[in-house]
Amino acid sequence: MRTPLVIGNWKMHGTLVEARALAAGLRDGLKRPRGVQVVVCPPFTSLAAVSEILTGGPIQLGAQTCHHEAAGAHTGEISIPMLAEVGCRWTLVGHSERRKEMGESDQLINLKLRALLAQGLTPVLCVGETAEERRQGLTFTTVEGQLRAGLAGVGTDEIAKTVLAYEPVWAIGTGVNASPTQAAEVQGYLRGLLSELASKETAQTVRILYGGSVKAENAEVLLAEPEVDGALVGGASLNAQSFIGIVRKAARIGTAAKE
Ligand code: 13P
Repeated sequence: MRTPLVIGNWKMHGTLVEARALAAGLRDGLKRPRGVQVVVCPPFTSLAAVSEILTGGPIQLGAQTCHHEAAGAHTGEISIPMLAEVGCRWTLVGHSERRKEMGESDQLINLKLRALLAQGLTPVLCVGETAEERRQGLTFTTVEGQLRAGLAGVGTDEIAKTVLAYEPVWAIGTGVNASPTQAAEVQGYLRGLLSELASKETAQTVRILYGGSVKAENAEVLLAEPEVDGALVGGASLNAQSFIGIVRKAARIGTAAKE
């Protein structure tokens, strides 16, 4: 049984004041979520403040990216020890916005993922095809390339500690989510690859999230798919009530599966 996981990716949104208010809203609205794990990834400037608000509660803290070296002359970058110090236990890697806007390569993403695992943080490796790639029938080729490169040199035990997120680029921020069938098809394919890269048993334990226009209204049908182990939420995670709505749906499914 894989516990559903819901991650809020706040992206480059929110002042410190807004981040504090959102974190407090989540803390007060999600006192004891059962059957679900919850993580939020605020911008770097809000991490310490959000960490203080969430400390001692069930909601965990994550970052949106990291540098793979522990320290050094890397102007503008943030290292994994710095993230750990403010309470981050999770970090997104390979988000399509960073691949596209910052030119992050599969090789760099692999360095970050391995550094995170080495330092005890959980990487959430994001993969996904563009609309054009889907049109050309390259969906599986694209995600397979991203997965294999992202996990290159990573052993079975470490793959077991990794989370994957399938985020079709055409579904991010567009209001057009993948259908549950589309998500399940790609996520099932990714799980098949994990069986090969790690082992069949490990592949069954790794959580694969879906991301791309997830809202409280469509979360239930997406999360009902056995291959969809949770959600990576952008826009709808910026409002406490809508994020809590998604978490509650995931919790209901997680609790039902356990009973
Ligand atoms: P939206 O939920 O805004 O589509 O963003 C998805 C995403 O990119 C989460 O990482």
